[in-house]
Amino acid sequence: MPAFIHKPVMLAEVLAALRPAPGGSHADGTLGGAGHAAAVLAATSPNGFLWGCDQDGVAIETARARLTERFAGRFELRRENFAGLARWVPAGACDSVLFDLGVSSPQLDRPERGFSFQADGPLDMRMDDRSPRTAADWLNQTEPEELARIFWEYGGERDSRRFAKAIAMDRVTRPFTSTRQLAELIERLAPRQGKKAHPATQVFQALRIAVNDEIGALRRGLAGAVTLLKPGGRLAVITFHSLEDRVVKEFGREQTRDYTFAGPVDVPELRQPRVPELRWVSRKAIMPGAAELAENPRSRSAQLRVLEKI
Ligand SMILES: C[S@@+](CC[C@H](N)C(=O)[O-])C[C@H]1O[C@@H](n2cnc3c(N)ncnc32)[C@H](O)[C@@H]1O
Repeated sequence: MPAFIHKPVMLAEVLAALRPAPGGSHADGTLGGAGHAAAVLAATSPNGFLWGCDQDGVAIETARARLTERFAGRFELRRENFAGLARWVPAGACDSVLFDLGVSSPQLDRPERGFSFQADGPLDMRMDDRSPRTAADWLNQTEPEELARIFWEYGGERDSRRFAKAIAMDRVTRPFTSTRQLAELIERLAPRQGKKAHPATQVFQALRIAVNDEIGALRRGLAGAVTLLKPGGRLAVITFHSLEDRVVKEFGREQTRDYTFAGPVDVPELRQPRVPELRWVSRKAIMPGAAELAENPRSRSAQLRVLEKI
């Protein structure tokens, strides 16, 4: 089995948020290398339980092997999207649910997964290789207007239209197959000129989000997670870019509001009181500390938000 080594981000902060205690029951929707999951299971010893999923086949096998060594019989793992967590984890059974979003180091570091513009590989980017459309399929088959929308909405790419047009022209004679082919095209269109970030950074992020329907899965996953929590249970989400953080903030705002409004806009006179399902544990995002930032550069864009079921 290939090694899957991923350093869990903000481990101390996550444990402080989830408060795992002996006998507790927890869910982890993004197992990865099971760093967070192992720490949660350790803290719930001797008889705590964990439901865990990851849509990546390598991740789930690594997590299973790692957890079996120390916690056999105390977990149920499935290769699933966390959007469907509520279909198999019992409702109201969890003291916490954790989503540590995005890609893992092993996904990024393996050129054959096609996530990285740093090394050449097939233009794939699927976290779940059972899903039908690779990044190459998206790039070769999507209308240029839609590609531009994806680059702008999911990547904040200012040159989205120009890039989409150039891709649509290029693919007529040479369909896209590799990460290098895409990275080189973007570099030609937008030379680096001393800038630190690679000019294809946003395009790669946007494509990855589209290929994996990351925003749709997050919305469905958050809604499902609420149904799994016990009263007082905690939902913790680590995001890595502003788009997914905005989804979590909007979800939190919606779920913690003590009123509803009838129409599409909020008219204060028409508000109806309601009992919210959640409350913010920390309205402000929690960031990694200086020591972690120095040790693990990939933690630099991480933000943790925590909600509690009322
Ligand atoms: C940052 S890593 C998680 C690392 C993990 N917390 C640890 O301690 O090792 C993110 C993982 O979430 C998985 N993932 C991302 N979105 C997912 C989704 N919608 N459903 C299931 N797994 C997902 C990825 O495949 C990846 O393995």
